[in-house]
Amino acid sequence: MSDAKRKVTIFDTTLRDGEQSPGCSMNLAEKLRMAHQLAILGVDVMEAGFPIASEGDFEAVRKVAEEVRGPVVAGLARAVDIDIERAARALEKAAKPRIHTFIATSDIHLKYKLKKSREQVLESAVRAVEKAKGYFDDIEFSCEDAGRTDDGYLAQVTQAAIDAGATTINIPDTVGYAIPEEWGARMKRLCDAVPDLGTRAVLSTHCHNDLGLGVANSIAACRNGAGQVECTVNGIGERAGNASLEEFVMSCRTRADFLDFITGIVTEELYPTSRLLSNITGVFVQQNKAIVGKNAFAHEAGIHQDGMLKDSLTYEIMTPQSVGILKSNIVLGKHSGRHALAVRFKELGFDLAKEDLEKAYKLFTKVADQKKTITDDDLLAIVQDGIQDIPEIWHMKYIQTVGGNQIVSSATLVLKNRETEEEIEEAATGEGPVSALCNTIDRIVGLDGSLTDYQIRSISEGREAIGEVFIRVVFDDVEYMGKAASTDVMDATARAYLNAVNKALFARGKAAEKG
Ligand code: KIV
Ligand code: ZN
Repeated sequence: MSDAKRKVTIFDTTLRDGEQSPGCSMNLAEKLRMAHQLAILGVDVMEAGFPIASEGDFEAVRKVAEEVRGPVVAGLARAVDIDIERAARALEKAAKPRIHTFIATSDIHLKYKLKKSREQVLESAVRAVEKAKGYFDDIEFSCEDAGRTDDGYLAQVTQAAIDAGATTINIPDTVGYAIPEEWGARMKRLCDAVPDLGTRAVLSTHCHNDLGLGVANSIAACRNGAGQVECTVNGIGERAGNASLEEFVMSCRTRADFLDFITGIVTEELYPTSRLLSNITGVFVQQNKAIVGKNAFAHEAGIHQDGMLKDSLTYEIMTPQSVGILKSNIVLGKHSGRHALAVRFKELGFDLAKEDLEKAYKLFTKVADQKKTITDDDLLAIVQDGIQDIPEIWHMKYIQTVGGNQIVSSATLVLKNRETEEEIEEAATGEGPVSALCNTIDRIVGLDGSLTDYQIRSISEGREAIGEVFIRVVFDDVEYMGKAASTDVMDATARAYLNAVNKALFARGKAAEKG
């Protein structure tokens, strides 16, 4: 294979075919934001909407045409005068405008939808392209439902559209019915029948995903003469969607050894673009979605995690960074091994000795049997409560809090230091009873903690329910968890805070021992 690769034009139709799908509609501001991001992503053409469809669509195409620079901006139009006029009007201010006009060519559509003969459709196609050509040079013509159109008729319409001035001929598999080999062969037959494809006009493919083959069919088309692929971010679109832009693009990049075409997409923008679309529409991709799904770079099996930590080449065919994801995600769960656990502990600031790691691993497997994923909180609990015996240096003897909405909260405590047997009484105020309690404890133990999380949950029922308090406190830049339960939440709060204090003092002692 020669080194020179053909560049395939990426025609993004997220704002038109994608936006048409349930749950994916966007308002003007949202479309504009998305359009600017598509330009950053480096799409060659963006279809900004279907101007005749509504005022909103017209306005969106008009605004995108006016504001967005870089890609060609296309507007869709049926093969009728009013649509073409409206599209031309919406695209007036575009630096690089394209009218995309279409008519169905399959016998099924002709008979049931259009109620027209092949001759009538051919005539409409030619008239539409000629009319559009009166406005701009760049004209795309699509044979809707080309996938189920007779070969000879498809070639006839294609040739006529090129002769009328179309510069791109789009062949959609509107209903997502094609199989890759078949679709590739179809493109080849069309190119053989219409030699002007590839010289006077670009052959384009537009594959829907009803059988999950949208991207595979697009690749097959490009291997057989197509020079443009129509696709959408996250694969959104009618029914099962359109070919996914990110999957097509990363197939080209990752399998450059096999495919002889490339795209001009800035692949590092794929994930940010996918996220932007999801955030705008509220439609999130499934976790295992290729390239941009939450799990696309997540590894849970122990053997995989071990391999990944040795060299990511073992289980990743592309780097997360190449699609704009910061790093792979080692998900800790029951399939994880000691290696992954040790690495995660280290990231959390615990460089565990061999015996401690062994203890932690045993506790970890117990927790993992009960929970699907292990969070950092679980790991902190394992390391802080499970494998280290934290001595209770400070013990609470007495607590009294005063609070209310008309007075300054205060707390009085008596703590006993178990090492010196000394009992200290102190009082302090605070913005509420919790803050007063923490301030009093800090005063007695000589630390200055900052509360980063405070949660109470009931662990039994009724008015006398036991409340469990869970807190996180930062002492000297290190975060410690504390928890305690009591029927009195202030009592539980003070003891949870003391729990974190004792951990911090224990860690300090350990650090001092190490020198
Ligand atoms: O799927 C389809 O046929 C279309 C055309 C309008 C290009 O979206
Ligand atoms: Zn479509």
